[in-house]
Amino acid sequence: MYNVAIIGYGYWGPKLARNFQNSNYFNIKYIIDSSKKNLSKAKSDYPLAKVISNYKGIKKNLVDLIVIATPTKTHYSFAKYFLKTNHVLVEKPLSMSLTEVKKLENISKLSKKLLFVDYPFLFSGSINYIKKIVKKKKYGDLVEIESFREQAPIRKDCNVLWDLSVHDISLLNYLLEQNPIRVNSIKNKTSGNKLHDTAYLNLVYKKKINVFIKNSWISPIKIRLLKFKFKKAILYCDENEPIYKIKIFIKKKKSSQYNIKIPEIDLTEPLSVLVSYIQKSIVNKSNKIFKNNLNLNITKILEKLN
Ligand SMILES: NC(=O)c1ccc[n+]([C@@H]2O[C@H](COP(=O)([O-])OP(=O)(O)OC[C@H]3O[C@@H](n4cnc5c(N)ncnc54)[C@H](O)[C@@H]3O)[C@@H](O)[C@H]2O)c1
Repeated sequence: MYNVAIIGYGYWGPKLARNFQNSNYFNIKYIIDSSKKNLSKAKSDYPLAKVISNYKGIKKNLVDLIVIATPTKTHYSFAKYFLKTNHVLVEKPLSMSLTEVKKLENISKLSKKLLFVDYPFLFSGSINYIKKIVKKKKYGDLVEIESFREQAPIRKDCNVLWDLSVHDISLLNYLLEQNPIRVNSIKNKTSGNKLHDTAYLNLVYKKKINVFIKNSWISPIKIRLLKFKFKKAILYCDENEPIYKIKIFIKKKKSSQYNIKIPEIDLTEPLSVLVSYIQKSIVNKSNKIFKNNLNLNITKILEKLN
């Protein structure tokens, strides 16, 4: 059993806590939050956990994994403080500075403690289904990808690029296993927000794979739609759909029409898959998904787009 300390019990922290609690391999030892209201909620949700307001109260030797779910600007200093002695899971984005990400990766290497980031789509059944199709070229070469990710809470700790585009950039790096050759962005403040709330991105990958992304906090309707255009089919992935998330429109021969295939995909909650991945990584002392500079590449692309 591994002991966990969760720092930050606002919106996302409780979801992480629920998934660690549901695992047979983790025990929630501490919950830390600087807000009294959120601390009392943590106490009523997890009466056996030690609930404190300051992270310095954590006895590092009693904890195997530190989970950081506080506002983005705090990620670096918290991760730096714990990575020397503990494995660390940080919420996305790891940091808004490439220099800071490099420093954290170095500490992790020196201390031999694992650094994980919650990029949830890397652990989703739909994205892993699509990854296999891309790899096997089941419908021929991939030509174009479009992503529409609209409506999300307006954040004060980072702009829409660091909040929403990080999902698209992380899943693209995971799916295509390469960095883009060219990136371009248009950013807008459409609703009197201090930070950019809408972004249009274009990324070009090898073999002229073009990617078009729209990310916006401002939308009356929640949209989470990815479209993959292959030579022989167009795949729609709608994360809002509860069950039938993927629809594949396969081009008919000598016709402009399509046959539709709706595949069965793994619907396990991505956070639960992430928790299992962390447990196995700690046991095996390896971090397969995050090797090959995943965090550095994602941050580098986001810095350029920003
Ligand atoms: N993976 C995802 O899909 C996803 C979704 C939502 C949020 N997030 C990420 O999770 C992180 C937190 O976002 P949120 O929406 O839960 O924010 P939030 O503001 O709802 O919660 C943050 C919590 O951290 C606490 N906190 C702030 N400073 C602290 C400190 N110094 N010490 C202890 N506690 C402190 C606050 O009191 C609050 O309870 C962000 O990085 C965000 O990008 C990820």
